[in-house]
Amino acid sequence: MIRTRIIGTGRCLPDKVVTNTDLEHLMDTSDEWIRQRTGIVQRHMAEPGTGPSDLGAVAAKRALDAAGVSPSEVDFIICATITPDYLFPATACVMQHKLGIKNSGAMDINAACSGFLYGLQIADAFIRGGTHRTVLVVGAEVLTARLDFTNRNTAILFGDGSGAAVLRADFTGRGVLSTYTNADGSAGDILCIPAGGTKQIITPDNVNEAEMTVIMDGRALYKRAVLAFGEATQKALEPTGLKASDITWFLPHQANQRIIESAVERLGVPSEKVYLNLDRVANTSAASIPIALDEMVERDLLHEGDLVLMASFGAGLTWAGAMVRW
Ligand code: UT7
Repeated sequence: MIRTRIIGTGRCLPDKVVTNTDLEHLMDTSDEWIRQRTGIVQRHMAEPGTGPSDLGAVAAKRALDAAGVSPSEVDFIICATITPDYLFPATACVMQHKLGIKNSGAMDINAACSGFLYGLQIADAFIRGGTHRTVLVVGAEVLTARLDFTNRNTAILFGDGSGAAVLRADFTGRGVLSTYTNADGSAGDILCIPAGGTKQIITPDNVNEAEMTVIMDGRALYKRAVLAFGEATQKALEPTGLKASDITWFLPHQANQRIIESAVERLGVPSEKVYLNLDRVANTSAASIPIALDEMVERDLLHEGDLVLMASFGAGLTWAGAMVRW
């Protein structure tokens, strides 16, 4: 039976680290509040002028090297991002050029923090459908460029980075066992950047008032996130016939430790099976899951046959889940 296997991973985090204490100088917040309410201690921040394509290309190259796959073997590139280099062309096309890849499809998807799992579902359909053999899925974000560093509601939560995975057709029984995606566009205003798209073009006249940075109703999102995690995990498990007790690792989108703890409690998974890195990287949206996955690989936490349940939620609203046999 044909399956989609993750054969290589990579990540790229900017060198610059911004701690909670650094943020205390910019806004009315405290290290203690941020740690207690979110679990975040620090985040990485890209230099001005850095695009997600810059971080994404490095992560993708590392994933290709880890997989032992040459750029010429890549059939399709999916870049999940909500902070694209440009409105168009797609960041995936920019990355294709940076990676020296020719003769591949390339497109972006905007599913916010669920972007990587949306990308995984698309790649899985391409590979199992037989039209593509090798697909690169990259989550890449430079969210700090889209934050108002005087707004403590949002600026404390996000960081920059990229994670990538090389996916390939496999016949050994390993790979993606299920994927699940869902969305609720009626709640789009809970987390968004209203201005800068075509609906609200930024002009010299409105530039001072236009909402060009992330706005969020944190409490509303928190409640939705806990429910979304529950649905995503259940729907990812269902088609596999597996139970939560069967899984080796739960890899959640790294948004808030309290949200993850609620989800884990509902799922009934012991905390030692949950992978967390949000203390070090904060919420990197579409890059969150592939960055964590690459860390797990580097730490030799994933072994053949391990069952990994992934789940995410984010702006859109979107939410998603996936079960993978490593
Ligand atoms: O990928 C999806 C991305 N977004 C999320 O996952 C966000 C989901 N939501 C959350 O993570 C939480 O709602 C937050 C971390 C954003 C906020 O935590 P909370 O426990 O829901 O706090 P709150 O908004 O209810 O605020 C509690 C208090 C308020 O003060 P008062 O009204 O009680 O006096 C806030 O003004 O904390 C205050 N506050 C802060 N204080 C210090 C809010 N932000 C901060 C801050 N530092 N950064």
